[in-house]
Amino acid sequence: MTIEVRKMTGACGAEVLGVDLTKLSNSDMETVRQTYADYGVVFFRDQQLTPQDHIAFARRWGDIVVNKFFTPTENPEIAEVRKEKEQTTNIGGGWHTDHSYDVEPAMGSVLVARNLPEEGGDTLFASMYAAYDALSPGLKTTLEGMRAVHSNAHVFGAAGVYKSSDQGGGFKGENLVSDATHPVVITHPMSGRKALYVNPGFTLHFEGWTFQESRPLLDYLFAHAVKPEFTCRFRWQPGSVAFWDNRATWHYAANDYHGHQRLMHRITIAGGPLN
Ligand code: SIN
Repeated sequence: MTIEVRKMTGACGAEVLGVDLTKLSNSDMETVRQTYADYGVVFFRDQQLTPQDHIAFARRWGDIVVNKFFTPTENPEIAEVRKEKEQTTNIGGGWHTDHSYDVEPAMGSVLVARNLPEEGGDTLFASMYAAYDALSPGLKTTLEGMRAVHSNAHVFGAAGVYKSSDQGGGFKGENLVSDATHPVVITHPMSGRKALYVNPGFTLHFEGWTFQESRPLLDYLFAHAVKPEFTCRFRWQPGSVAFWDNRATWHYAANDYHGHQRLMHRITIAGGPLN
C-alpha cells in the first residue's frame, strides 16, 4: 500500500490513505504525526479496529485518560458516544474541544465509528491555528497575555445541560466537575505554531474579567473561529476513524439523524500543561 495524504480543505483536516492502523511502520507514524501537526485532524478510512487495536493505536501517542462522564465500554479506556433512536440530544452537539476544563488538557482524541445512521451524523472541525492566524495584529497582541477560565460544571454537573436532557442518566458528573485557567493563545508543543485556545463549550470568562465583560470578546472569537474557511466536515462510513488535536481544533457532532442510532467509541489521550 502507498501512503497518501489528502487535505480536506485549505486549513483543516487531512485524510491519510493507504495505511492499516494495526500495522503502522515508523515512517507511517511520522507521516501521521506530521499530518496531525499540520492540519489538526487526521482521518482514516476502511479500518477494522477491534477495541484492543483502538487502545493500542491511542497508546502510541500517549497515556489514555479514562472518561469520567460518558458510559464506559467493557474496556474503561474506551468511552461510548451514543445516541439511541429515541433520544433527541446527542453528545458533542456544539462547538467545543475535549477536556479544556482540565488543568492538563487532553492532547487528542481517537473516535471510531461503530454504528452509523444511513445519513447524517457528520463531525465538523475548525482549525484554531487558522482562526488565530487570521486575527488582526492588534487583537493578537491584546490576547497574547490573557488567560481564560474553563469549566465543565454547566455541561456535566448536577445542573448541567446533559443532566436535564434525554442523555441525562448516563452522566455521573455530580462530584467530578472541574475548572482550569489557560492562556488564550497557546504555542502548540508539537507544531510550534500559535493557536487560539478558548471554546464555546467550556470557556466561561477571561481571567480578571467579569462574565459580562468577557462575553462580547468571547462571542466575537467564537463566531470568528468557525468561519467556513477554517473548517472541514467529515462524513463517516463504516471503518472510519478520526484522530484530532484537542489543542489546535474544535469539533461539533451534527445532530441530524433523529430516529436512528449512532454509536462511536472514543479514546482521549493525555496532554500536559499549556503555554
Ligand atoms: C465528541 O464530541 O467527542 C463526539 C464527536 C462525534 O460524535 O462526532
